[in-house]
Amino acid sequence: MSDRKPRVLATRLFPPAVQARLQANFDAVLNPDDVVYDADRLAQAIAGCEGLMCAAGDPVNAAAIARFPDSLRIIATFSVGYEHVDVAAATKRGIVVTNTPDVLTDATADVTLLCLLGAARRAQEGIDMLRGHRWIGWAPTQLMGTHVTGKRLGILGMGRIGQAVADRARAFGMTIHYSNRKRLSPDEEKGAIFHADPEAMLPHCDFLSLNCPLTAETRKWLNQARIARLPDGAVVVNTARGPVVDDDALIAAVHSGKLASVGLDVFDGEPKLHPGYLDLPNAFLLPHMGSATLETRNAMGFRALDNLEALLLRGETPPHRVV
Ligand code: 8YV
Repeated sequence: MSDRKPRVLATRLFPPAVQARLQANFDAVLNPDDVVYDADRLAQAIAGCEGLMCAAGDPVNAAAIARFPDSLRIIATFSVGYEHVDVAAATKRGIVVTNTPDVLTDATADVTLLCLLGAARRAQEGIDMLRGHRWIGWAPTQLMGTHVTGKRLGILGMGRIGQAVADRARAFGMTIHYSNRKRLSPDEEKGAIFHADPEAMLPHCDFLSLNCPLTAETRKWLNQARIARLPDGAVVVNTARGPVVDDDALIAAVHSGKLASVGLDVFDGEPKLHPGYLDLPNAFLLPHMGSATLETRNAMGFRALDNLEALLLRGETPPHRVV
């Protein structure tokens, strides 16, 4: 039996413990400078590989997949979202696609609450005032935000992350509304109010949290007409994918006062976010940090490796295959 290790390309620099396991078990082609590959670099780097460990933002579209070598058997993305991978094109070439569900649920739900509270409580303006040496002292009317307790939170997309957001928001005394393709069981619902039609949920959302995957159906879902259905002074939070919102409409709604604020961790075209967001002093903006804890990023890497090892080392079906 040959002791040749299968060759795996890692498109990004992953946490040290993840890289160590990758190197121990595979003939790993690494990217120590962490440059983001374009289609040509990817096509070059993947030559002779049986596995690909990639991340959101990598161009694993149909055109890229067409250039992958015949040796490639698995695309293991280091993410729960896989809109950057053309699963149909991969499947057609007999390449298995896997993701990393569950392990980033809590971290992402935490950052959703951070965005919700940051936007509601004008955290960005407070930080800017303090760091800009403009704080001349406490004042009764200074930086008054929007109360969270007792308010209604609408969640679009009540999967693992949406449910974890709901659990956290309940602890803040919020009432939960949700819309999801499938109604949850009463055990999972925990009293949350289901809206089969997401548009019908909008008038009930003092806060709206987007926790759905990016699909053809959800692309630019939160547009001007839907924002108009939200109560005046609502707060919009997006920790899902930037293109779920229409940036121009969202920015205009904050400028007009229709929305009190927005809390965003993801952006269409990131890292080049719409410059209009930076002109909104009350917007609470983070650079896609939802899963950015050491524990979570290690767990995501180990999950991606579980998938690669199952197929390439043991010839088994990987545990987190997406179809
Ligand atoms: C990841 C994410 O950090 O897993 C996802 O879908 O959005 C992020 O939290 C990123 O996508 C890594 O590939």
